[in-house]
Amino acid sequence: VIAFTDRATATADQPGVVEGRRPSPRRPHVGIVGGGQLARMTAQAAVPLGIEVTVLDPDPAAPASGAGARVRVGDPARLEHLVALARSVDVVTFDHELVPIDHVRALEEQGFVVAPGAGVAELAFDKSVARRRLAEAGFPVPRAVVATSPAEVVAAGARLGWPVVVKAVRGGYDGRGVAMVAGPTEARTAAELLGPEVVVEEHVDFDGELAVMVARSRSGQIVCYPPVTTVQADGMCAEVVAPAAVSPRTEADARELAAGLADAFGLVGVMAVELFAVGERLVVNEVATRPHNTAHLTIEAAETSQFAQHLRAVLDWPLGATALRAPAAAMCNVVGPADGSDPADRLARALEVPGAHVHLYGKAARPGRKLGHVTALGATPEAALATARAAAARLS
Ligand SMILES: Nc1ncnc2c1ncn2[C@@H]1O[C@H](COP(=O)(O)OP(=O)(O)O)[C@@H](O)[C@H]1O
Ligand SMILES: [Mg+2]
Repeated sequence: VIAFTDRATATADQPGVVEGRRPSPRRPHVGIVGGGQLARMTAQAAVPLGIEVTVLDPDPAAPASGAGARVRVGDPARLEHLVALARSVDVVTFDHELVPIDHVRALEEQGFVVAPGAGVAELAFDKSVARRRLAEAGFPVPRAVVATSPAEVVAAGARLGWPVVVKAVRGGYDGRGVAMVAGPTEARTAAELLGPEVVVEEHVDFDGELAVMVARSRSGQIVCYPPVTTVQADGMCAEVVAPAAVSPRTEADARELAAGLADAFGLVGVMAVELFAVGERLVVNEVATRPHNTAHLTIEAAETSQFAQHLRAVLDWPLGATALRAPAAAMCNVVGPADGSDPADRLARALEVPGAHVHLYGKAARPGRKLGHVTALGATPEAALATARAAAARLS
């Protein structure tokens, strides 16, 4: 059943119902698996380019629906729902990693255009595959061991040397799925919580964390954004500053590393590469083969936003310029406060801050949930950060 409606009326048990305007058959049509804030901002970027967007999401009122995306109500974990999406669009891409990688492979085998393809997406969908394939390809990664029982996690910790970091192989995000582990007792708890299959890796005593956004089109054009400095709180990205506070050599190394990864694994779309900086040495923490929190500031701060870039890449159009439009920029996330209140109720106060670009995702407020972000440009990283922090503080 395909019922194009202009109201959110479908429910999760009515897969196939599509909420939204009937798509124009003459326009390029991008299907996004998941309708969260990344799909919402991608849909916003699709408007000036005249691209049709349909998302697959169990929730007919998913954040992307607020930005004009049509919602095909369904379950991203079910192949038949993915196939239904793929049939109705020119290319399938992703808002999150909660899709069985075998389903992505199956879509490709059935001849659908999927970007990124399973060969590169599995680096982001599965931390164990990522560690192994990156190491095999010669990219610098932390020493890591895959473990499948509490006893194996303890043994891995002893082998690598405490403390270690234990990570769920699949389904983790925003630090949920990552545990810092000091010794055997904590190791057992982490194994029970995050297992059975986990990655155990050396704790990297980094000087800082960086991220590089890289885009590669189907025809092989590659562009990199300036590396940014990222600060995580409780494993979740809290603040981002561009350009990164690193030496020109580290900056060049970071770009080369990201471009090398995109090339080596045949990326199509955008990919965020999270890096640990240890002195002048870079270690790859993880990759995300989709738009990413660490590049939200590109909406205002770069010639081409990561979302527009992702659309260009998956549709195999020429990629856009990545240079910053200001000497510096900063982004602060807006996270649901502990008292359960909704930052959206304080929007007017945040809008009083000159130069702050506020983004709210239209999500229900819950403590610890990412609900929005604020970006500011500035003459210096400090100035940009001060503006973004002032508005984010008023919201939270
Ligand atoms: N091996 C490590 N050594 C030190 N810190 C780490 C390590 N792995 C992860 N972290 C910290 O935990 C954060 C979240 O880990 P990450 O693997 O990126 O998980 P997620 O998928 O939730 O983003 C990182 O940004 C970093 O701050
Ligand atoms: Mg991460």
